Amino acid sequence: MQPCQCEEKWEQLEQIIDAHRGQPSALIEVLHQAQELIGYLPKQVQMAIADGLGVSLSEVYSVVSFYSHFTTKPKGKYQISVCKGTACYVKGSPEILERLEKELGIKPGDSTDDGRFSLEVVRCLGACGLGPVMMVNKRAHGLLKPDTAVEVLKSYK
Ligand code: FES
Repeated sequence: MQPCQCEEKWEQLEQIIDAHRGQPSALIEVLHQAQELIGYLPKQVQMAIADGLGVSLSEVYSVVSFYSHFTTKPKGKYQISVCKGTACYVKGSPEILERLEKELGIKPGDSTDDGRFSLEVVRCLGACGLGPVMMVNKRAHGLLKPDTAVEVLKSYK
């Protein structure tokens, strides 16, 4: 069974896997490329990668769950990235994240049921002077407080 409706993407995935066939050490690289291609890593994709590289599915799964960058769910229409780099952290990004989690009812790595928002944590967005910072898709929002972060969300609803 194919992980998405798009045959072309599945073919490209097979090419990525073929380029590293039988190379367990390429696992993270292949997962990165697969996620870039498809947008997330559903179970069928993980199975194909495990099979192609010669690693167990549980090994693939543990790598996918260890790195917050990887996600097994499709990203939302609006992808929220909250910075927890040092500068943002000391300026209050944990409180921002906590408030957004509560508001959206999801944890980092997850998407809302309506497919509107997904949430992730990142390390330094290169705008430390504006911390705490979050990105919504490609747009940065800085000097946030928990309340203003929620206001930003509302502007995307
Ligand atoms: S630490 Fe958040 S932008 Fe640099």
